[in-house]
Amino acid sequence: MASSQEVALTRLPASFIPPITLDTASETPLYRQISMWFQRAILAGQLQPGQRVPSTRALAKALSVSRIPVLSAYELLIAEGYFQPFAGAGTCVSRSIPDAICRAERDDLPNTASLGTESGARRAVSRRAAGMVGSAQAWLDQGRSCTDLDHFPIGIWSKLVNRHARKVSRDIMGYGDPMGYAPFREAIAEYLGAFRAVTCDPSQIMVTTGAQQGLLISALTLLDPKDDVWIEEPGYPGTQLALQAAGARLVLVPVDQEGLIVERGIEMAKRARAAFVAPSHQFPLRTTLSATRRIELLGWASRAGAWIVEDDYDSEFRFCGNPLASLQGIDVEGRVVYVGTLTKAMFPSLRLGYIVVPKDLVSDFLSVRNGSDTYATSVLSQMAMTDFMREGHFSRHIKRTRAVYMERRRALAAAIAARADGLLEVVGDDAGMFILALLPPGVNDAEVVGKARQAGIRAAALSQCYVGRPGRGGLQLDYANSNLKDIPPKVEVLKSIIEACRPKQRGYREV
Ligand SMILES: Cc1ncc(COP(=O)(O)O)c(C=O)c1O
Repeated sequence: MASSQEVALTRLPASFIPPITLDTASETPLYRQISMWFQRAILAGQLQPGQRVPSTRALAKALSVSRIPVLSAYELLIAEGYFQPFAGAGTCVSRSIPDAICRAERDDLPNTASLGTESGARRAVSRRAAGMVGSAQAWLDQGRSCTDLDHFPIGIWSKLVNRHARKVSRDIMGYGDPMGYAPFREAIAEYLGAFRAVTCDPSQIMVTTGAQQGLLISALTLLDPKDDVWIEEPGYPGTQLALQAAGARLVLVPVDQEGLIVERGIEMAKRARAAFVAPSHQFPLRTTLSATRRIELLGWASRAGAWIVEDDYDSEFRFCGNPLASLQGIDVEGRVVYVGTLTKAMFPSLRLGYIVVPKDLVSDFLSVRNGSDTYATSVLSQMAMTDFMREGHFSRHIKRTRAVYMERRRALAAAIAARADGLLEVVGDDAGMFILALLPPGVNDAEVVGKARQAGIRAAALSQCYVGRPGRGGLQLDYANSNLKDIPPKVEVLKSIIEACRPKQRGYREV
């Protein structure tokens, strides 16, 4: 374990000069003004325990005073327990401020961190932000799953990152192209054309920090506040949040085995401005939008002059049938905006995604993007990712993980069939990184999820993917990171949890 001295030294270097203003006309001596400034900053939490403070020489120079008042202030702060000197390593904020000091002095300070919370009253924020604190947020709070990292070629990835990080070229240190690093956009356009039958050229690829940013930029570019927009119900909570952030009015279109029920959408809001859908793999019901519904959806968009935003977040992982073509690829009117990500095929913290923008909308998408971020995500990761794709590692990695996920998915489905038949009903396609299993009617999925998590089983509640009234409860069961041998015993545990959560019915007998 690191000693406290080592910990102190890992903090910010002491060359940061704090913003102290001295009043030379004041009756309070300079050393006292300096010590009071530090005391207040420590008690208010602006300076953290273990954080280094500047040397007395550097601080005196920055404040244009002699070293004497600074030395006196530091001596006082050390004597009172606020500062701790380290031989040869400077001075740090004490790792433990005596409680008595904290209690006596903290009361005098305004504590912005707790404002508005003690009385229970929430301070006013925009109606939009307030409306976003709901089930979508609760879903995010459940924690997100990671991709399988055991089969990720970390050595190769590190080598590629190092290749570019070792000697950073001056050319890439400026703002660069806000659409993204050109070779990366070329690699993505090739990949999408070959693998997803997306019709595009590199000029249409806008690099983002992931599908989530792609959804938000699309919403802000295509929609005005209060515009009607179709979303799938249940659907991806991140899409709900992006659309709420854009101030859109959500039209909750139900989903069945064939995906979004276009006819219902037309009945509910024929003139909606856009539809946000995940046609390849509906989230969370795991269905594929059927060919008939694809034609119906494109037909409606054409008649209504509406946009379709296609969220194609995990199509690399289909375990049966032929790979599906994207909706964008069969759209002849340029109404589909295609949003993709490398989160599932690579790993979440990479934060690389892309939007395929219809050619005539590129400058509109760019204006909106510039409103939040004037340059694409870190160019170093784009460079490493370009090499990862060009040198064949990406396709090899997808092939390998597809086999791993398929094996885990099938093991989980088999364990459910063998051990929890009648309690968990698996729905959706043979694809992706989690199974959706419906619970018996009347079982509260949030309660099951809570208990499952206590037992160390990762699960998320289907009910949290609804904006409106949830239907039958269900569990999203992650297998991407599961160990094959742990699957059957975990299903056993889940079975007993579900049984315990089952409502006691009159006349119900255990069989
Ligand atoms: C349906 C769906 N869309 C979009 C995303 C967002 O992914 P990203 O990490 O690229 O923002 C996810 C992530 O889980 C998802 O499941």
